[in-house]
Amino acid sequence: MLEQLETMLQEAVAELNAVTTSDALREWELKTLGKNGAVTRMMRGVGSLPAEQRAAFGKRANEVKAALTEGYAEREQLIKAQELARDLESGQIDVTLPGRPASLGGLHPSTQTLRRYREIWAEMGFQVYRSREVEDDDTNFTLLNMPPHHPARDMQDTFYTTTPNVILRTHTSPGQIRAMREFGKGGTEPIRIILPGMCYRFEQITTRSEIQFHQVEGLAVGRGIRMTDLKGTIAEFARRMYGDKAQVRFRASYFPFTEPSIEVDVECFLCGGKGCRVCKYAGWLEISGAGMVHPTVLRNGGYDPAEWSGFAFGMGPERVTMLLHDINDIRYFWSNDLRFLEQF
Ligand code: PHE
Repeated sequence: MLEQLETMLQEAVAELNAVTTSDALREWELKTLGKNGAVTRMMRGVGSLPAEQRAAFGKRANEVKAALTEGYAEREQLIKAQELARDLESGQIDVTLPGRPASLGGLHPSTQTLRRYREIWAEMGFQVYRSREVEDDDTNFTLLNMPPHHPARDMQDTFYTTTPNVILRTHTSPGQIRAMREFGKGGTEPIRIILPGMCYRFEQITTRSEIQFHQVEGLAVGRGIRMTDLKGTIAEFARRMYGDKAQVRFRASYFPFTEPSIEVDVECFLCGGKGCRVCKYAGWLEISGAGMVHPTVLRNGGYDPAEWSGFAFGMGPERVTMLLHDINDIRYFWSNDLRFLEQF
């Protein structure tokens, strides 16, 4: 038995010295010092020895175990140091190499237009109010005079969520309600704001319409605000945005939350009014829905419609960006194609 013990020690030491990786070291430890390893097995055998040899064997076995445990620890340190050195070597960085030039990003064409809008409206005295993109059904519809079952609520148009009553806003108009309630101070303060932001509609994607798009809502509430104020304000905006000669026209229209309602067109820049794919051969491009804030909406915002009035408009900057840059397909906007984006 003692002889076997010595042989085992010699073999184990030889094996240990041949180990060069942490994986192999772990294997060696299991095989030699582990629960079912060679040392443990030897020690278990002590019971089969004659009583007078047991003490001497046990003593030597403990020495062997201690020696192997120590050898293991030393080897472990050595291997760790080697592996670290190897890692450092292979990950070496040549700090003298010239850097890769960082390519400059640019603003998305939509962002550029949004910023231009904001500038113009700021010049005209409108402050920015940010309303939420995730809305509740009431604010997006009911409070805007679209009761349940109103056709404008058609399932096709709205992205619903798994939470009842929670939807993605289909337009920025719900922000009118939130702004009136927040800043109107119970219907006692005038308001003049724009509400820019992303809107979502569950619609067929075409060259002219996307399922997500920006709107810039405008809202003015005060005493004695009239339709002529709306027309003058939008015409002034068009001149600042498209130049002094910009032609605009107003068409009667319908929105549940404005009365009367209009739509505003600007002469198509792409074709100069002759008709093209973008303007659907009409020569005019719709830039805004608008109207006088409906009395019901004013009331829902906390105002007394007998005393207060207001106008509202909603514009789509993507459409305008298409005009300004001769873009003939709205799908480029969110396709993240650098060949498109790098042009701006
Ligand atoms: N919210 C309307 C839309 O999504 C636009 C609009 C805004 C119309 C404000 C009138 C007044 O098309």
